[in-house]
Amino acid sequence: MFQVNENYLKLPGSYLFSTIAKKVAAFTEANPEKKVIRLGIGDVTQPLAPVILEALHKAVDEMGKTETFRGYAPDLGYDFLRNAIVKNDYEERGCDIAADEIFVSDGAKSDSGNIQELFSADAKIAVCDPVYPVYVDSNVMAGRTGVYSEDTQTWSNVIYMPCTMENGFVPEFPKEAPQLIYLCLPNNPTGTTVTKAQLQEWVDYANRVGAVIIYDAAYEAYISEENVAHSVYECKGAKTCAIEIRSFSKNAGFTGVRLGFTVVPKELKCGDVSLNAMWARRHGTKFNGAPYIVQRAGEAVYSEAGKAQLKEQVAYYMKNAKAIKDGLKNAGYTVFGGVNAPYIWMKTPDQMTSWQFFDYLLENANVVGTPGSGFGPSGEGYFRLTAFGSYENTLAALERIQKL
Ligand code: MLT
Repeated sequence: MFQVNENYLKLPGSYLFSTIAKKVAAFTEANPEKKVIRLGIGDVTQPLAPVILEALHKAVDEMGKTETFRGYAPDLGYDFLRNAIVKNDYEERGCDIAADEIFVSDGAKSDSGNIQELFSADAKIAVCDPVYPVYVDSNVMAGRTGVYSEDTQTWSNVIYMPCTMENGFVPEFPKEAPQLIYLCLPNNPTGTTVTKAQLQEWVDYANRVGAVIIYDAAYEAYISEENVAHSVYECKGAKTCAIEIRSFSKNAGFTGVRLGFTVVPKELKCGDVSLNAMWARRHGTKFNGAPYIVQRAGEAVYSEAGKAQLKEQVAYYMKNAKAIKDGLKNAGYTVFGGVNAPYIWMKTPDQMTSWQFFDYLLENANVVGTPGSGFGPSGEGYFRLTAFGSYENTLAALERIQKL
C-alpha cells in the first residue's frame, strides 16, 4: 500500500480562510435575508486599473497572431518585467539588485510556501506570532516543525516571537538562534510595522547568527511613513542574509490575475553554495513561467500612468483603513495598524476570545472579520479587519459595529 506524507496529517484543521468561508456560508444559508459584509480575507475589490486592462488586451491580441504569439515564458521571467522591477522597486530606492536576482512567479503565496525547500530538513524557523499561516503550514508539510500542542497551539520545533500591544508589535530577537526568520513587513495580520533602524537591527542579527530572513514585503505599497523601509535591501548587509518576496496582488489588484516575484541575491551563500543558483534550479524544474499576458500587465504597473492609477487605488483602500480605525476608536475599541498597511488589528471587547467575537460580529452586525487567534496564540483576544472592501461597505460595516 502506498504511504502518504504524514506531515500533512499533523496540520490542525483547515486553512484559516477556508474555515471562515465555511462558517460564513453556513450563516448566509441559514439567514438568506441578511446582507453580510466581508472584511475578513485580504482580497481586493476594486477593478483592475485602465492601464493594466489595456496591457492585458494588447497582450491577448499578440497571442492571436503567428508573428507575436508566445509559448512557454522564460522560467525566471521576461526581461522586460525583470528590468522594470530592478529600475522601479530597487534602483530608485538606492538598492543594488540585478535582473538575474529577480525570479518572477505566479504570486507571493506560492513563493513564501515554496522557499523553505532550499533549507535543510532540520532547519529551525522563527516566526512572528501572530503570523501569516502559510509560513508555518508549509514548514509543517516539510516535516520541519516538530509536534503540535493543542494546549499552547504551538509547534515544538518553531521559535515564536510574540508581537503584541505590550511590545508595540515589534518582535524581539529569539534566545535560541534560528536558521530561518520569517518577517512580513508591513505586517499581516497586525497592520503594524517597524522602522528602518529596527529592520537594520534584524539584518545585523541575521548576519551575526548566520540566519536567512525571508522578508515578505507584499504590503510595501501601503507604507505612508518616511522612516519605514520599502525593501529589506535598503538595509546595509541585507544581500548576504535576506530573500525578499513581493506581490502584485495588493498594490495592483492582481489577487485573481496572479503575479509576484522573489529576490535571491547572488551574495546570499551557504559556504560556496549559492541560494540564487538553487532557486533558479528549482524554478527550472518545477515552474514554467508566469503567463506572458500577465507579465505584460505587470510591466504596465511600472508605467507612469500605471503608477498614477495605482497610487489612487492604494489611497482608496487607505481611506477605508482610516475610516475603520477612526470609527472603531470613536466607538471605544483599542485599535492598531492601518497607517502603513491595509489591516486594522483591534482588541476584542469584554474579554471575548477572537472566535467568540467573530461569531458575535457575524450574528449581530453581519460583518465578517478574521479572528486573531487564527494567526497564532499571541493573536488571541485580537481581531483583524481589512481595508480592501468598497468604501460604501466599509462605512456600512462601521455603522453596524458602532450600533452594537
Ligand atoms: C489575508 O487575508 O491574510 C490575505 O488574503 C493573505 C494572502 O494574501 O494570501
